Amino acid sequence: MLDLKEYGIVMWDAEKIASFRRTLLDWYDREKRDLPWRRIKNPYYIWVSEIMLQQTQVQTVIPYYERFLDWFPTVKDLAEAPEEKLLKAWEGLGYYSRVRNMQKAAQQIMTDFAGQFPDTYDNIAKLKGIGPYTAGAISSIAFDLPEPAVDGNVMRVMARLFEVNYDIGDPKNRKIFQAIMEILIDPDRPGDFNQALMDLGSDIESAKNPRPDESPIRFFCAAYLNGTYDKYPIKLPKKKPKPVQIQAFIIRNMKGEFLLEKNIDGRLLGGFWTFPIIETDFIGQQLSLFKKDNCALETVSQKAIFEENYALKPVWTDNNFTPVKHTFSHQKWTIEIVEGIVKDDKLPTHKELCWVTTEDFNQFPMATPQKKMIKTYEDSKKG
Ligand code: ADE
Repeated sequence: MLDLKEYGIVMWDAEKIASFRRTLLDWYDREKRDLPWRRIKNPYYIWVSEIMLQQTQVQTVIPYYERFLDWFPTVKDLAEAPEEKLLKAWEGLGYYSRVRNMQKAAQQIMTDFAGQFPDTYDNIAKLKGIGPYTAGAISSIAFDLPEPAVDGNVMRVMARLFEVNYDIGDPKNRKIFQAIMEILIDPDRPGDFNQALMDLGSDIESAKNPRPDESPIRFFCAAYLNGTYDKYPIKLPKKKPKPVQIQAFIIRNMKGEFLLEKNIDGRLLGGFWTFPIIETDFIGQQLSLFKKDNCALETVSQKAIFEENYALKPVWTDNNFTPVKHTFSHQKWTIEIVEGIVKDDKLPTHKELCWVTTEDFNQFPMATPQKKMIKTYEDSKKG
């Protein structure tokens, strides 16, 4: 067990802890939000909600959550879902590896747990894509196990309560907040205790616009009482996403269909369909290959590289498109678009390619950068 004193944290006595639990849960009983996943203690439903809520606000999640359970009402349905439908269900939420992991976890439940959702923390934590936060949330909310669910919200509230002088953005400090929560959590109502902190952390004790004077636990909060509220939590700046230049090729055939390519599984946006794109870093490597072939560097364009890689000979238009920007957690894309039309639309077989009408686009899972490209393209045709 981690010794909190070593981190400059003075834990309260039993009486104060009991009083804190009562105060927090009384507030929760009065103020708790009525959310769909709070109406039923089904671990599968709670799991779905928790994964969605890791990346998106409650109000946005609700329709996704309802549709997801409509499409995949049980763990078995999720385990057996076709990939395209799975990605469609997640379209717009981002971080698609999460839903792929959910499917793998559903398959694990079917094979390793005879289709029964595991009911201990350790077994829940064995499921693909379920880390300590989600395992804690499901254990406490669905099974009443006294397990903390430590996310950014909880760390922020704890950092203010105890004036924790450790960066909440550094994963190695998570254990400090976990240790505090293991002591504070109410063993009689662990799920409500965790969710009360989630509600508090996402509103009254939010990161950007907290309202400390309204917090039900302000008289327990060292930062509030000592006038240091603005200093906590400590959060050091993160590394910025790396800028990446992307060249996109919008290619039509004589029937007006568009060339789409399926991204390779396991890579960024794996499994999604996109207009062909090439990272300009990759173009740089290709240029050096051309150079070795004694081809003058200046005469080799990105279009030539496309022609080489896709075995197509488009007539290139000189239409200009506004570059599309998209930021992932680790990369910031600037996408330049060029447009071409091909007569001979025979496709090479070494890539997953197909010709698709715009009406059929919605049958192909597409990620946000692709949607932004379509919008830019359509806007440019309008005016
Ligand atoms: N954020 C993550 N999990 C939540 C939950 N169960 N209720 C409200 N907000 C949440």
